Amino acid sequence: MCGIVGYTGNRRVVPVLLEGLRRLEYRGYDSAGLVYEYDNQLVKFRAAGKLINLEQAVDENIGVASHTGLGHTRWATHGAPTRDNAHPHSDCTGELVVVHNGIIENYGRLKEELLAEGHTFSSETDTEVLAHLIEKYLDDDLATAVRQALARVEGSYALGVFWVKEPHKLVAARNQSPLVMGVDDDACYIASDIPALLPFTRQVIFLDDNELVVLEQGTYSITNVADGREIKKEIRTIDWNPAMAEKGGFKHFMLKEIFEQPQAILNTISGRIVPDTGEIDLPEIGLSNDEIRDIERIALVACGTSWHAALVAKYWIEKWVGIPVDVDIASEFRYRRLLVSERVLTISISQSGETADTLAGIRLAASLGSKIVTICNVVGSTMTREADGVIYTHAGPEIGVASTKAFTSQLTALFMLTLYLGQERQTIEQETLKELGSALVDVAAVIDTILPRVQQQVQGLIERYYDSRDFLFVGRGLNFPIALEGALKLKEISYIHAEGYAAGELKHGPIALIDKDMPVMALVPKDAVYQKTVSNVEEIKARQGRLLLIGTEGDSHLATLTDDVLYLPEVHEELNPLLYTIPAQLLSYEIANRRGCDVDQPRNLAKSVTVE
Ligand code: AGP
Repeated sequence: MCGIVGYTGNRRVVPVLLEGLRRLEYRGYDSAGLVYEYDNQLVKFRAAGKLINLEQAVDENIGVASHTGLGHTRWATHGAPTRDNAHPHSDCTGELVVVHNGIIENYGRLKEELLAEGHTFSSETDTEVLAHLIEKYLDDDLATAVRQALARVEGSYALGVFWVKEPHKLVAARNQSPLVMGVDDDACYIASDIPALLPFTRQVIFLDDNELVVLEQGTYSITNVADGREIKKEIRTIDWNPAMAEKGGFKHFMLKEIFEQPQAILNTISGRIVPDTGEIDLPEIGLSNDEIRDIERIALVACGTSWHAALVAKYWIEKWVGIPVDVDIASEFRYRRLLVSERVLTISISQSGETADTLAGIRLAASLGSKIVTICNVVGSTMTREADGVIYTHAGPEIGVASTKAFTSQLTALFMLTLYLGQERQTIEQETLKELGSALVDVAAVIDTILPRVQQQVQGLIERYYDSRDFLFVGRGLNFPIALEGALKLKEISYIHAEGYAAGELKHGPIALIDKDMPVMALVPKDAVYQKTVSNVEEIKARQGRLLLIGTEGDSHLATLTDDVLYLPEVHEELNPLLYTIPAQLLSYEIANRRGCDVDQPRNLAKSVTVE
């Protein structure tokens, strides 16, 4: 996600901004910028790539006698990671700048309105719209103009605003995106996250949604964005060390990212489901209505966890859209005889957008005339530049090598793609479309609710499982790919041999593995195949298998089969894959942590496999 730093005080501002941005590098970014006031001018520097490029651009101005400014590291969501798209973004006059983290969902309509009023734009970003919108309302008080502009905005933001006519003042506000304040005797700070503040102060104020703060040297005031009502907030002392702070207090990035999933899912949905009608809007998919209607078959191609997401999508698309779907591991896809043509839509799924086998697969499919759409988490990555259309997941940078929030965000994007195809090919009724869309939004809230409780329950089981030599994961239907994903999570971070199986496949061989030493996680939601899956579980029990069951709250039968049952709330059956992934992720994390493994950087693995 983007990183914001702001300072107003007695220090020279540029070194403060650069040090603060350095402490936010862990958030992942692809460009950076800063701005300060000098001699009644706003002096702005921006650079694509890493911070070193910004430092070189700032060069000898680093010691400039200026004491107020803003800095930003950008994780691209709208617009490629270029210098022109880097923040800060200016209004028409160049006297006002903004830095932003989040997604302005209605930026398109606002941009049209501002263009019609004569505003000129220099970037592809949603953020620049904010600068011009504030300019539109700006009279003699920046905070008032920001408040009026934000009243027009739909979406998420953490925002820093600076106006040359109030050279020692910063205005900041947040809604859904994080923003903290730092305070010390003669200065105030804003930042996206605590690490940026730790070199300067440990006295912080956590801002909440719909709060606006005005900072000026060592003074500040906090008000409600909408009505300007004064808000008193507690100053907290942070005792984290810098390493802990980068992980938000979590021990590992992987655990932090597991807990970020509800927000990652909502960010991926943001602006793509029309609330009142349930209509799905995927403008960047790059396919015309005719092309969508002409699709005869879909080829999904991916690797690893992304391949598991593709397996889930096959069930969804074939059920709701009625198009046959082939799913291939990319390293197999590219070496078999491909029956791909113009009537076959090839979709790659990739967190990084750089996986060599997947990239080779879409290049081959394209050479055979197939249209290419990629589902990807990294704006401007190779796959997104070569595909005909893109559906970005907005999970933010995923630092842990084991994919978690990117996976559930991929499922979110694939489910919306299913609904979109059904909408465009009229295979899903309007009411059903609305029901499924709201069920997707609801599942994010359910995951948010269960995460702490499931983590605690898993921790209570770990002593019985952490030293297992082998582990089986079983599931049926939509949960078969989740069984595969659970096994991959466990093996890649704890180094325990684990396998995922279709529950109905056990009797065709794997059941020979079952004995009193074999732990089996079985995913047994109350779904259409529940009775069949319970029969498989009872076959395991009959052979003394060590059952760890994940089931639906209220299903007391499961407790008659084993002591180790984790219950999850009932959600729309189609969305069980997102929910049932959570205990599998937490089990692998807690076991790996208990075994003292390097959870974030497991041996032999890379976050992006850019070689064959
Ligand atoms: C998943 O936890 C692994 N890190 C790995 O299987 C990964 O999913 C695979 O390498 C694909 O990466 P991609 O999504 O970036 O293409």
